[in-house]
Amino acid sequence: MARPRQSLPDEWLGLDPQDMAERIRAHRGRLGDDLLILGHHYQKDEVIEHADHSGDSYGLAQVAAQSRARWIVFCGVEFMADSARLLARDDQVVIHPDTSAGCPMADMAERTGTERAWRELGEALGGTQGVLPVTYVNSDVETKAFTGRHGGIVCTSSNAARVFDWALGRADKLFFFPDEHLGRNTAFAKGFHGPDVLLWNPALPMGGHDPAELQRARVLLWKGFCHVHTHFNTAMIQQAREADPDVKVVVHPECERQVVAAADAAGSTAFIIDWCAAQPAGSRIRVGTELNLVQRLGRRHGDKEILPLDRSLCPNMWKISPNDLLWVLDRLGEVNVVEVDAELRQDARVALERMLAV
Ligand code: 13P
Ligand code: SF4
Repeated sequence: MARPRQSLPDEWLGLDPQDMAERIRAHRGRLGDDLLILGHHYQKDEVIEHADHSGDSYGLAQVAAQSRARWIVFCGVEFMADSARLLARDDQVVIHPDTSAGCPMADMAERTGTERAWRELGEALGGTQGVLPVTYVNSDVETKAFTGRHGGIVCTSSNAARVFDWALGRADKLFFFPDEHLGRNTAFAKGFHGPDVLLWNPALPMGGHDPAELQRARVLLWKGFCHVHTHFNTAMIQQAREADPDVKVVVHPECERQVVAAADAAGSTAFIIDWCAAQPAGSRIRVGTELNLVQRLGRRHGDKEILPLDRSLCPNMWKISPNDLLWVLDRLGEVNVVEVDAELRQDARVALERMLAV
């Protein structure tokens, strides 16, 4: 759950964009290698221009894990800043410019629900020895800690297939949290569908299934979703193709299965960027992912027509502004420092480190 917002003081409101950019650059010049600013691809351009690294959640987790910087400012949503905190050394300080920038999907799996599901599954199967939790990095620290405690692993959208292989080499059954769609799309690519894959509805006893169904299934999917990506539907793809039969469509795997199936390609944020770059000049491309990234790709590739499949913006990513960034740099170490519960830290970190090792 997003931390309560430490409100941006009036002093940092209504500033001239040019002045702010100069003041941020001055901090970067003064702090040099002591400061690392990370920006997720869904951030606005006026934030990304100050990032030492922009990337997808996997790439940025790797950079955070390897960084020597004393101060790591993470421009992204809460689970990303928390992951950086988990991976950074104790003497590094991780800062989140707007602590109210959470992720609704991460909030869809929480401690009581996941622990109860695990208990019920154990009762249905006569134990959970043959099951491993696989948790999307878009999850809270408690869900990551639960995962680490039960021998499981974290994944991102760019390594989900590899992580599935790792987990299936160690267990007969996977329980995927908290995104039904990334889980279903990855399972499908591994040949699991029909009764192999079950949706676990936390609002129902035993997720809504009987023990025989649970015994039979290979992949259980927690019922969670990203509203930014489930916004896209097959009618949008059909309309785009009707308007232009040569158009190519690429989407993120947080989209529903039928949307991924109707697209020409699907993959993580980094995949989408590379895929668009690899299309020949003159291509006409529609992209089903977060609007800021799609618009940036359109500007970057002037020789191609790259447009959103539809306008879908992540309101939480949007919250981070240059004003927030300037504020946390002006008050470095005094505001918005990310802390992770010491009790959860070890288990959550183990699950993340397993991912980095795969
Ligand atoms: P990536 O893992 O592709 O960076 O996506 C992060 C995200 O929040 C997608 O909604
Ligand atoms: Fe969460 Fe979706 Fe926003 Fe990503 S795009 S941060 S999954 S709400």
